[in-house]
Amino acid sequence: MAALAPVPDTAEPSFAELLAGRPFLSMHAQDGLLLEDVPLSAIADAVGTPCWVVSAGTLRARLAALRAAFDPLRAHVHYAVKANDHLAILRLMAAGGAGADVVSGGEMQRALLAGIPPDRIVFSGVGKQPPELLQAAQAGIAQINVESAEELEVLSAVASAAGHSVAVALRINPDVDAGTHAKITTGRADNKFGIGLDTAAALYAHAASLPGVRPVGLALHIGSQIGTTAPYRAAFARVADLVRTLRAAGQTVSRVDCGGGLGISYRDEVEGSPAAFAGAVGAMLGGMGLDLMIEPGRWLAGPAGLLLASVVLTKTTAGRRFTVLDAAMNDLVRPAMYDAWHGIVPLGAADAVAAVSDTDIVGPVCETGDTFARSRLLPPLAPHARVAILDAGAYGSVMSSTYNARPLAAQVMVDGDRWAVIRPRQPLESLWANETIPDWLAAR
Ligand code: LLP
Repeated sequence: MAALAPVPDTAEPSFAELLAGRPFLSMHAQDGLLLEDVPLSAIADAVGTPCWVVSAGTLRARLAALRAAFDPLRAHVHYAVKANDHLAILRLMAAGGAGADVVSGGEMQRALLAGIPPDRIVFSGVGKQPPELLQAAQAGIAQINVESAEELEVLSAVASAAGHSVAVALRINPDVDAGTHAKITTGRADNKFGIGLDTAAALYAHAASLPGVRPVGLALHIGSQIGTTAPYRAAFARVADLVRTLRAAGQTVSRVDCGGGLGISYRDEVEGSPAAFAGAVGAMLGGMGLDLMIEPGRWLAGPAGLLLASVVLTKTTAGRRFTVLDAAMNDLVRPAMYDAWHGIVPLGAADAVAAVSDTDIVGPVCETGDTFARSRLLPPLAPHARVAILDAGAYGSVMSSTYNARPLAAQVMVDGDRWAVIRPRQPLESLWANETIPDWLAAR
């Protein structure tokens, strides 16, 4: 039998293809790359690079589209704050009618500060601590998603001692493989998250007998960057069965929090469809008299943001061309951490139509993992030329560190033809401002 020809690697999307899929980005002959109506080079000139830029119009449009898809189910959207927790973004989400899914006392405070009402806040997470649980009980948030029998006991003790009764959903681990990167799948039995299906009914009954907690329903979240509805359907079907079992046993189950996870198109994936997600929720959990919720992060914020960077230099070693940027893995860690692919587009109109050739696009940090892209097609870029690293609005700035004594990058919000710095670049001295040298070392 003749050997099969190797399947060619899918061609990388061109700059034009990347822009075509992102209506809020456009390339203009004079002004170069625009986000909404603002030339990104004007922001880079004024603020410097690296710099995060987020589009308010995109956030609003995506939230409206998601809410519209879930409207027939009257489902509540709770934005997963972890994706991008900036106060301005949370304010925008609140104005667009979203609540918040938080995973720490800090995120809860951010959501409250931004004006998200407590009764629109849900608290998730596998290791909530007693002070955080108390803070949630005192704030009167909508619901705490409890992830274990152990946590339920602690919450009951903390809430009842403070004279509160909190609404609790049990987070179920439905043992479904979301088919996503191993580091961001959460719904398999061997992941740390949630309560096993086999013990959930007994724990629900136990919760109903405890002081300080009122079991109101179930929650689940099976993973992130999910591209098909099949895992959702499988997981929701299991949860629907559990709702029926609990109700048959006389329990009240009035809410299901269906989690987040809807994927976006970084490279050439088909973007997760809110309508299909809503369809999966409706097919499995609709018509059961449940208050339904979802908690998406990436789908709302990911495509709305980008990271601006400048070229430091290009070099060729052992026949390999490296384009070294002033942004690094400490700014955007996703390529190093998950081998994530992000589109990278030059800001200059002339650069965007110049002949391209193969280059690795790297940062200045002293690790080979500090690589944004391998063998990417880019034109030769002179020092100081700028690029935009796309789809960095979710799990971008929030995952930054100051590794290699690199201050946190500035953040800017664009809204139509307006823009504002929403967080200045971290002053370098603040990196060591709170460090002290012990007396016995200080004496010289
Ligand atoms: N709800 C819970 C309980 C979660 O743990 C998460 C995300 C979400 C909602 C929102 O998921 P989303 O809709 O954004 O997929 N840093 C990784 C992603 C980690 C996701 C963690 N949990 C990345 O950069 O790909």
